[in-house]
Amino acid sequence: MTDSLLIAIDGPSGSGKSSTSRGVAQRLGLAYLDTGSLYRAAAICFLESGLDVAQTEQIAALVTSAAITPGTDPLHPSTMLDGRDVTAEIREPRVSEKVSVVATNLAVREWLNEQFRTIIAAADRRIVVEGRDITTVVAPDADLRVLLVADPAARIARRQAELGGSVNADQVTDQVVRRDRDDATVSQFEEPAEGVELVDSTHMGLDEVIETICGMVPGHA
Ligand code: DC
Repeated sequence: MTDSLLIAIDGPSGSGKSSTSRGVAQRLGLAYLDTGSLYRAAAICFLESGLDVAQTEQIAALVTSAAITPGTDPLHPSTMLDGRDVTAEIREPRVSEKVSVVATNLAVREWLNEQFRTIIAAADRRIVVEGRDITTVVAPDADLRVLLVADPAARIARRQAELGGSVNADQVTDQVVRRDRDDATVSQFEEPAEGVELVDSTHMGLDEVIETICGMVPGHA
């Protein structure tokens, strides 16, 4: 039986959270869970249902009866929804635009948190879990908890580089500002919770951030 090494990484959109979390998982030989991918799959359920945003109970009933299964290999992230591969679809702008409908639904959050805890247990707590409330709600007992932040300008520039010039600077800025506003209803990133390490990636490259976080792992410095 190997020791638990549960690493929780929270941060806003564009902080480099996903690349960092996957890199840390690869480096340390851990599984990887992107909790946002399950919220995104839940948003697809909502989008395909024809329900109104105000029908919160029906939305919760629908999502909690779906089978949402994420892969946990940091080299090959994947998400299945009711047996269908939605790995690419969850990244579409129409999904990003509606994800706050499910992320602000408390019954959906509670159900997803249970799914996350089941996945963490199935991985023998040797896993990097990234999201918005992992350090505070899902795994406050993690072996290492990190809040990864970056200045809005750096996050906008990264998002633009990711999109490869397919959208203009104003559109990217609008997207990042809107996502921050939507996310503010579920999480605040100004201050790390007690015991959570703050890492500011504004002036750091990806390798440096991965190195910094691996250096914080108890017993792995
Ligand atoms: O990390 P992401 O951008 O793929 O997350 C998609 C959305 O899901 C994001 O707008 C906020 C929400 N989310 C959440 O509320 N709690 C989490 N633990 C992870 C994501």
